[in-house]
Amino acid sequence: MSEQAKSNLSQKIFTVLKRLATVAISAVLVIAVILVWPLITQSGPAKYANIDDHFKYASIGGEPTSGIPYWIWKVLPTMFPDKLPGEGYSSLGFIQEPDQDLPIGFAKSSYLGLDVVTQNCATCHVGSVRTTPDSIPQIISTMPSNTVDLEGYIKFVSEVPLEPQFSAREMMPAIEAMGAQLNPLEKLIYRYIAIPRTRDALIAQASKFTFLERESAYGPGRVDTFTPYKALRFNFPVDQLDDSELNGISDFPSIWQQGPREGMQLHWDGNNTSVDERNNSAALALVTPTNINFDAIYRIKDWLWELSAPAYPYAVDETLASTGQTLFQNSCASCHAFNGPDVGKVVPLEEIGTDPARLNSYTYELASNQYTLGRNRSRALILSQKRPIDCSEEVSVWIKPFSFMLNAKLSKGLPSPIKSNRAEI
Ligand code: HEC
Ligand code: HEC
Repeated sequence: MSEQAKSNLSQKIFTVLKRLATVAISAVLVIAVILVWPLITQSGPAKYANIDDHFKYASIGGEPTSGIPYWIWKVLPTMFPDKLPGEGYSSLGFIQEPDQDLPIGFAKSSYLGLDVVTQNCATCHVGSVRTTPDSIPQIISTMPSNTVDLEGYIKFVSEVPLEPQFSAREMMPAIEAMGAQLNPLEKLIYRYIAIPRTRDALIAQASKFTFLERESAYGPGRVDTFTPYKALRFNFPVDQLDDSELNGISDFPSIWQQGPREGMQLHWDGNNTSVDERNNSAALALVTPTNINFDAIYRIKDWLWELSAPAYPYAVDETLASTGQTLFQNSCASCHAFNGPDVGKVVPLEEIGTDPARLNSYTYELASNQYTLGRNRSRALILSQKRPIDCSEEVSVWIKPFSFMLNAKLSKGLPSPIKSNRAEI
């Protein structure tokens, strides 16, 4: 080979290597951008100066486990209108304030580079009253979400992922038609990650809610407190649960004036005595012990501690009120006024005669699983140096003794000292 040919060859090899290097460097850069993107765009949950806005619209930490990418959540009612009773999420009873993007009870926050939608306490604890069917409803935070059909919402997000239109091919144009200004990288993320992953996650979640078919309908303002908890948090085989455990459906209560309740037998079944523990347990309907946002929840807790009940919004007929007051004092105050001797105490079912379904759904198995959750939670707290909470170890749990507790093999790993005086109830 002549010198000339040799030099041509090395020139060519050099050019090829240079190209390869350019391609390799570009690839590394693209990968780096993809990896760093979430970090540079991460803004975390939105912060609200006003506590009422915080309660209605801030995240309590559900992003990693139940966050739905914002544009998917937004486009679903447009793509699947026949799966809703009317127009949009409001047709399920969620309250849409005119100056807000999302209905009350839904939070928008940035997670891994995308905006996601999660639910918070206000899903179940903000309601409205109106004078006539045509009046503009007056929104009252911390009263029960009396219009919200949570079962309808669960069914909606369970049914839509099974539809063939829930695909990037159909959803991307619908999202863009809604005015989404996605950059090219976000489009790629939506197309190849967000849409398929959300679909899979919603299908997986739907498979845990099949028990709904066996239960009575919740109706607005009500939820089964514990079957979803058993299914989502502890992977109980809920399809095998006995009928007697299902249907523990309760009203959303009002949640003002929490301070005076500390130390009472709380929850509908009196299953614990710590307001903190109860707030955190409530949050676990939506978040997990590892991603619960304690700061967000403690801010709410501090507010609820002294928050007084809102004034009755209508004119009061003084004559009727004074007749009622006497009746109330004589027949109701013992259990319904803070200084009543029976307030915050469990009254035996035979005596009070209320529906036992809610009590029956709070089983020994659930209580002991919650107990282990409490342990993990306190450990998680110590690690993150957050404000300490009462975890179940310090909180009395009223449960009846179950025979299988005596089975050494099963009870291995289960907590030992559980105060077991539920038999007295
Ligand atoms: C999915 C609906 C739902 C969500 C979300 C929810 N709750 Fe509740 N909450 C309920 C229901 C139902 C009860 C009645 C509990 C029972 O069955 O014992 C309740 C009870 C309570 C009570 C006790 C009220 C009383 O006086 O008996 C407090 C306090 C409370 N919730 C606070 C919260 C806080 C704080 C959050 C958010 C971290 C929250 N809840 C999220 C449905 C919900
Ligand atoms: C012996 C105690 C006791 C007395 C007396 C009593 N209640 Fe109750 N009340 C309860 C308990 C416990 C509940 C919750 C039961 C349940 O939902 O299963 C309740 C629930 C209620 C509720 C439903 C609250 C909701 O958010 O769903 C109303 C309303 C109510 N009581 C009104 C009254 C009135 C009015 C009187 C007097 C005429 C009265 N109660 C007397 C113990 C009592």
